Amino acid sequence: MENLDDLIDFKTGRQKRLIYSDAEIYDQEMEKIFGRSWLFLAHECQLEKPGDFIRTYMGEDEVLVVRQKDNGLKAFLNTCTHRGNRLCKADHGNSKSFVCNYHGWSFSYNGELTGVPLEEAAYQNNLDKSKFGMIEVAQIASYKGLIFATFDEKAPSLEEYLGDMKWYLDVWLDAMPEGTELIGTAMKVELPVNWKLAVENVSGDGYHLGWAHAGAMTVTAESDIAGLSVGNSDVDNESAISVAGMNGHTVLAALDGKSGYAFYNEYQMAWDYLDQNRATAVERLGEIRGEKMWGSQINFTVFPNLQFLPGLNWFRIYHPKGPGKFEMWTWAMVDKRMSDDLKEMILNNVSRTFGPAGMFDNDDGDNLQAATEQSRGWRTSQMDIYTNMAMGNEHSREGMPGVISEGLVCEQNQRYVYRRWLEMMKADSWSDIPFYNNLEEARATEDK
Ligand code: FES
Ligand SMILES: [Fe+2]
Repeated sequence: MENLDDLIDFKTGRQKRLIYSDAEIYDQEMEKIFGRSWLFLAHECQLEKPGDFIRTYMGEDEVLVVRQKDNGLKAFLNTCTHRGNRLCKADHGNSKSFVCNYHGWSFSYNGELTGVPLEEAAYQNNLDKSKFGMIEVAQIASYKGLIFATFDEKAPSLEEYLGDMKWYLDVWLDAMPEGTELIGTAMKVELPVNWKLAVENVSGDGYHLGWAHAGAMTVTAESDIAGLSVGNSDVDNESAISVAGMNGHTVLAALDGKSGYAFYNEYQMAWDYLDQNRATAVERLGEIRGEKMWGSQINFTVFPNLQFLPGLNWFRIYHPKGPGKFEMWTWAMVDKRMSDDLKEMILNNVSRTFGPAGMFDNDDGDNLQAATEQSRGWRTSQMDIYTNMAMGNEHSREGMPGVISEGLVCEQNQRYVYRRWLEMMKADSWSDIPFYNNLEEARATEDK
């Protein structure tokens, strides 16, 4: 295994390409990052009644998330404790039990092993069923509608893990009293791309918008407002910020209060909704978030693999499938209080922009696939790539958490994503992983 410090240099914004292709590094990621982080499982709206379940992944481990009789939530590995078969094949549904296809063991939806065929004849009643229940995750918790879990019982609480990122997340999750919901079904796409390239792209890469997406933006952007010129000319603009330095979580945000809906044919319908509900957002979130951020184009990244964009309204999780592949699941997420017409317009637009045939996603998929392929050769894997744009511009801003740089064309966020990656890869346990939520703390914990 390579020396981990050679792989990432936070101070110069350098990454070794090996991290996008090496199988050993990937295995370490599964253990040190996906085995310990809080990972997104489901939205509360997908699990309303007891017995409602979703099949998803934590890293490469398949899990079943199940609403319990007492309305609590449990998540189990989706594997039979007898001979390891997959327990449930359905993506989602409602069931009071999970019965294995192989020899017929059945488990209650609370995880207990309840039925074993031929228990008396074959096991002579010697099988202690209480020892063969489904295996639960170590911790499960929700934050304003989003359900997360971790395999690490020593992981900090979800609240602490999210840290000051919660202040930004609330711009979407808590702007309206009814909260949010996912609509439509998950659009599932497999891409031959290393998972980190996709995450860092949405996390901080405003640079590619005006170039890689020039065609898509021309076709989809019906309105003409400031937030759209983020591509090339407004590097120093005050109208948008990159925010990082919050335990690996990042935000890209325009600050105009309406550019999020600029890529819609019927943007006026969305802008009317914003006008009608602006006062509520300001009352709940205050001036900066309610006035400037709610309705703006925003990219949220919850480290390591959850991203969602209010305004464009897509919500996405990446499930790694080896160093050169991932599966991404995309939903449309909306405020519950939106009208059915507006929700339908948003759902259609998510398909048009970031669905399997979405114009923006195809631009990104092509570039990221090629970058993955160009990092796996014997020679190219020894090369470096860089996120060294706008170094030294980081500052604090009154009333806003995190480390902030001006504009969306800035590689600050990617640097902090890779810094977190390295911190987790190097740490033996959570007690070795630093926590920081602003510039001062980020500087104080650098290299520790
Ligand atoms: S593997 Fe599930 S019952 Fe045997
Ligand atoms: Fe993109």
